Amino acid sequence: MTGRFDYSGPPLNPDDMSPDPITEFTVWFAGASEAGLPQPNAMSLATADGDRPSVRTVLLKDFDRTGFVFFTNYESQKGRELSANPRAALSFTWLEIHRQIRIEGMVAELEEQESDEYYASRPRGAQLAAGISRQSAVISDRAMLESAFAAAEEKFAGDDIPRPDHWGGYRLRPELVEFWQGRPDRLHDRIRYRWDYSDWVKERLSP
Ligand SMILES: Cc1cc2nc3c(=O)[nH]c(=O)nc-3n(C[C@H](O)[C@H](O)[C@H](O)COP(=O)(O)O)c2cc1C
Repeated sequence: MTGRFDYSGPPLNPDDMSPDPITEFTVWFAGASEAGLPQPNAMSLATADGDRPSVRTVLLKDFDRTGFVFFTNYESQKGRELSANPRAALSFTWLEIHRQIRIEGMVAELEEQESDEYYASRPRGAQLAAGISRQSAVISDRAMLESAFAAAEEKFAGDDIPRPDHWGGYRLRPELVEFWQGRPDRLHDRIRYRWDYSDWVKERLSP
């Protein structure tokens, strides 16, 4: 195991933080980008079908007051789990700036048009891969993947590639958003926003 790490960072004072967590997230996300983090939009996405949780990394592609958007295969493990149980959680871990943000809420599929627009903006190779990958299924070898990709390349040569029905976006509508700032002596600052029917409530949590 590696040695102990000393966290330090500016104190978080709830009174200085925005009344709504999306505005606060915007400031933190800009800070992570300015700090030169390679992919600050990489986030862990936890899902759970019944009593078995699972987690993986996905990329945040958009966010606003309505929620946090990511794209994936609707028939993947996460897709199947989200259809059985739309409750999910996100976590951003920004080690270089001693910060973490956790978000929990309900997930819903994007409108088809929104997924179409994002799909159309993707590089051609990514579009082809989305079409041929049965994400999360067991496959015999890599060669079958490459031959399916080559066949799709030939099929769509010179044409636009339509978005497959099994691929699109989700939006997680936040109900809890927690901002964590590493501080000396493990006395970290944790400020959590909780959606309480009509308003956000800010609370400090013990580290
Ligand atoms: C940095 C990074 C970014 C990723 N972004 C995505 C993404 O945006 N969408 C996606 O479906 N998978 C993405 N993946 C792959 C997922 O982590 C995962 O392997 C895949 O979605 C299958 O997950 P599942 O079997 O749990 O459904 C990314 C992986 C990494 C390491």
